[in-house]
Amino acid sequence: MKNKEIPYKIYLSEEEMPKQWYNIKADMKEQHEPFLNPGTGQPITRDELRPIFCDELVDQELDTTTRYFDIPKEIRDFYKMYRPSPLVRAYFLEKYLDTPAHIYYKYEGTNTSGSHKLNTAIAQTYYAKKQGVKGLTTETGAGQWGTAMSMACAYFDLPLKVYMVKVSSEQKPYRKAVIQTYGGEVIPSPSETTEIGRKILAENPGTGGSLGCAISEAVEEAVKNNYKYVLGSVLDHVVMHQSIIGLETKAALEKYDIKPDIMIGCAGGGSNLGGLIGIFAGEKIQGKNDIHFIAVEPQSCPSMTRGKYAYDFCDTGKTTPLAKMYTLGAGFIPSPNHAGGLRYHGMSPIVSKLYHDGILDEARTVSQTEVFKAAEEFARVEGILPAPESSHAIKVAMDEALKCKETGEAKNIVFGLTGTGYFDMTAYMQYNAGEMSDTEITDEMLQKGFDSLPKL
Ligand SMILES: Cc1ncc(COP(=O)(O)O)c(C=O)c1O
Repeated sequence: MKNKEIPYKIYLSEEEMPKQWYNIKADMKEQHEPFLNPGTGQPITRDELRPIFCDELVDQELDTTTRYFDIPKEIRDFYKMYRPSPLVRAYFLEKYLDTPAHIYYKYEGTNTSGSHKLNTAIAQTYYAKKQGVKGLTTETGAGQWGTAMSMACAYFDLPLKVYMVKVSSEQKPYRKAVIQTYGGEVIPSPSETTEIGRKILAENPGTGGSLGCAISEAVEEAVKNNYKYVLGSVLDHVVMHQSIIGLETKAALEKYDIKPDIMIGCAGGGSNLGGLIGIFAGEKIQGKNDIHFIAVEPQSCPSMTRGKYAYDFCDTGKTTPLAKMYTLGAGFIPSPNHAGGLRYHGMSPIVSKLYHDGILDEARTVSQTEVFKAAEEFARVEGILPAPESSHAIKVAMDEALKCKETGEAKNIVFGLTGTGYFDMTAYMQYNAGEMSDTEITDEMLQKGFDSLPKL
């Protein structure tokens, strides 16, 4: 459809929704290092993962050769409640910035849980139900993942326990209420309900918690109760489920013969970024494009920009397998930044490897005050009230568009708008009252986290 006017929103039909997920590992020249058993130092086996995760998810996790996985019909049917999601041409933002750049965003906030997390929540819950598990446990930071899981568990009628990072549960009572409305049980973390929670509380009284702490508690609870544990990011199968974002984006762009020059995603555990850029990064590996990929992280939790590429635990309690990833150390407890979903010490091993190998070109940090400034500007011109996490990508997309204004280039900029900010009004209120500040992370603070890295 060359020369055809590009609409404000490019929608695919339900028929055009992808029927398979893309596994980028099948196209990576080199695989990321394997997960290790912290006890033996040996690569983790299927049998060691099965007490924690559902069998089919373990198989997906360890598969490095199958390029495409069929999306089961039950999951595709559920996706139809809110997918395909629109690819929006940000005409209003372009006008506001007075830039020659063409800006697009893939909007994942069109479901009640409010973010992309539902794409993998429904998949993981489906496999749990199919396997006949008793119930699921998980952690949640911003609350988006817990909400998505509560929707998925309500749909498949499975009990759910959500360990919610304590600061988030205090900042976001309504998010907690939504999880409960869908039938999920919410436990602020660290809590007294697990051994690891009690230990973390004893060592850090008054801590607001972190995703790393909450993961430890959820894993402990799953093993203790004969439930299974589900993780909302980081793992390879999660990145694969999120590939639907990139596959739909590619199909929409191709309808109008649009070739992205820059693709941008915020990076917490790496799942939306890995999902958005996945298919494009696979093609870049094959020499079919030269897109500039940018990961955006908060200044207060700079896993890729200031972290080490090392083996580390995925949780603070040091109970999970070791992953080779960009990390600040499992002992790093980030300051209570409002982008709760980006407060994670590590990064997806796939995204880390792509970054290490130069396929993912760049990681950038932004401060929370500049993020909220960008978020408000965006909300006022584009209409959507963005999640603080997503607004990290908005900020960098705006920066890149302003660079185009200087150079006069009409680059195609595509970013992931992962979710809505309706439950983040405490943060917006703080910003509006001029009471938001930025936390400087010193080298000493980082060193404390690095000291917690396992000595292999
Ligand atoms: C709206 C939103 N965007 C982004 C993220 C970051 O997660 P990930 O890096 O796995 O996409 C989160 C995590 O909770 C989120 O809620």
